[in-house]
Amino acid sequence: MTDVTQNNTPRKILVTSALPYANGSIHMGHLLEYIQTDIWVRFQKMRGELCTYVCADDTHGTAIMLKAEQMGITPEALINDVNQEHQEDFRRFNIAFDNYYSTHSEENREISSYIYLKNRAKGHITTRNISQLFDPEKELFLADRFVKGGCPKCGAEDQYGDNCEVCSATYDAHELKNPHSTISGATPVEKESEHYFFNLPNFQDMLAEWIRAGHLQEEVANKLSEWFEAGLKPWDISRDAPYFGFEIPEAPGKYFYVWLDAPIGYMASFKNLCERRDDLDFDSYWGKDSTAELYHFIGKDIVNFHALFWPALLSGADLRTPSGIFVHGFLTVNGEKMSKSRGTFIKASTYLNHLDPEYLRYYFAAKLNKRVNDLDLNFEDFSQRVNSDLVGKLVNIASRSAGFIYKKFDGQLSSEVTEGELIATFQNAAGDIAGYYEDREFGKAIREIMSLADIANQYVDEKKPWVLAKEEGQEKAVQDICSTAINLYRLLVLYLKPVLPTLAEKSEAFLNIEALSWNDKDTLLTSHQINKFKPLMTRIEQEKIDAMIAESKAESQSNVTPAKATAAESVNNASQEAIADEIEFNDFSKVDLRVARIVKAQSVEKADKLLQLTLDIGEEKTRNVFAGIKSAYQAEELEGRLTVMVANLKPRKMRFGISEGMVLAAGPGGKEIWILNPDEGAKPGMRIQ
Ligand code: 2FM
Ligand code: ZN
Repeated sequence: MTDVTQNNTPRKILVTSALPYANGSIHMGHLLEYIQTDIWVRFQKMRGELCTYVCADDTHGTAIMLKAEQMGITPEALINDVNQEHQEDFRRFNIAFDNYYSTHSEENREISSYIYLKNRAKGHITTRNISQLFDPEKELFLADRFVKGGCPKCGAEDQYGDNCEVCSATYDAHELKNPHSTISGATPVEKESEHYFFNLPNFQDMLAEWIRAGHLQEEVANKLSEWFEAGLKPWDISRDAPYFGFEIPEAPGKYFYVWLDAPIGYMASFKNLCERRDDLDFDSYWGKDSTAELYHFIGKDIVNFHALFWPALLSGADLRTPSGIFVHGFLTVNGEKMSKSRGTFIKASTYLNHLDPEYLRYYFAAKLNKRVNDLDLNFEDFSQRVNSDLVGKLVNIASRSAGFIYKKFDGQLSSEVTEGELIATFQNAAGDIAGYYEDREFGKAIREIMSLADIANQYVDEKKPWVLAKEEGQEKAVQDICSTAINLYRLLVLYLKPVLPTLAEKSEAFLNIEALSWNDKDTLLTSHQINKFKPLMTRIEQEKIDAMIAESKAESQSNVTPAKATAAESVNNASQEAIADEIEFNDFSKVDLRVARIVKAQSVEKADKLLQLTLDIGEEKTRNVFAGIKSAYQAEELEGRLTVMVANLKPRKMRFGISEGMVLAAGPGGKEIWILNPDEGAKPGMRIQ
């Protein structure tokens, strides 16, 4: 186990979790990593280390560009909406980033250019022409996942451009039979273009040494060695326009591939934080001679980006390389891959509609270790473990002792500790528990803490304060026993605080103490006034889990309505959609709804889903609005009809022009979208009351 003896100077530690893509919601699989990282960071902070945790949305790439287009909004609008949604999910799960930013930032543009130019100056960038499939209708080069066709090996229809799900063959997209673009349906053509490559083989020696220098878990280093044996290849870091990302310096029309600027997003988020934090200095963390520690928590699917490309890019730019890359496995649910149809692909927000985030934090902690194994969220085990450990054991220690102290002794704890040895056992466990946290062996930490909780309960069971309380002359004994139990509870909460910050905060309020830090294990509460005990945690009920799974299933069965899609994939099937959170009347009254006559409706070239509407709302000038209703209406049939629009929506710049409002429509999507129709007699411009 790592020696966790501390000296007086705090460690400077910078920690990251992988940046989630800005085109989807945070789900349980993501949360495994954020919870793991957050526990580790909270532990370091409790110990007084200068530990900084940054993250950001990963915003670039074709998928995000296409999604925004499909929704009829700009990529910037999409990534802003998603950023807010992600931050809200993280906040509610108590993931305490010091900064949550976006890769689409000026800092990231600058640092990406800097790293690229430094590498170029050292001869690590080369160019050459490559031939790729190209969608002649969308005028877009097609990544493998945007081409489908017949498998060249077994002939199975409808297979992606890189591998066959039927016979598992891997191949080149050019080999597909009857290929088609999944974006437009067009038959792709071969087209050449110049690409920029990062010359990874130049770093062969540096990487061979780096991966064996203690920065990686052993199984990860072994896996990487296999790739090494196959030989490192130059890495294609450019993509052709149209692409949502950063244009490569001095290469018009060429963009950095999303995976080039994504990890640089760690640096950019930190840089952005440094601007408002006097105690953080960018260069002292990222300069070649930095003594700060730098750790990336990631999943096993993105090891090559972090343990090969990333250290090579940094070293080519004369920057420091990571101190450690901490790789975890995938999350399975009830022993299987997360599945939308089974309702086990659970979004963070769906979970929060039903269950307390601390349950999940505890469960993950109890099962996490420092290896790369997959982790199973088994719902039976989940409720059994949380109910038994947290409600049955931990909170029970406080609830069975606090009442006596509060009622019989005015909330006053004894003036001395009578069970020195027992208390010392709890205090002496701090070293091992800290070592487990430091080593990311959270499961071991939890086992140790729970065995202490068992000891505390046994102590109360044996002493039976409820019996003594009925006997004459036993007042002091009752006060001493319950005071001991409360002190033991306090130590347990202290040890669990990185995992259960909300329970810790509520317990601090109940114990009437300042926020606990690790060194507070050395002190005890004597002659101290505590507050009235309030229930700190309730049991998980099976119905809640069932309802969460049912909601997840319903979400996966419903479609996104283009006319009203929110940034993340919203549940929008009229029959299944949950009513959104309540809003104040004042919020609603800000929306100016007007009757509008559709004076003109026309298709938008290159936008599959949009119609361009010219709306008369009784103003001098008509309004131009792009609406995602093309799948349900022919343009001509709309002309002359009345509908309802949001007249005071801030104009939005879209690829096709400015949209000056939004028309209201309902329905699950596709052909089933209906714009609202006021009765004839209503006049354009009338306000909806
Ligand atoms: O795999 C993913 O979800 C990526 N968005 C992770 C990026 S991590 C970092 F390199 F930015
Ligand atoms: Zn096949």
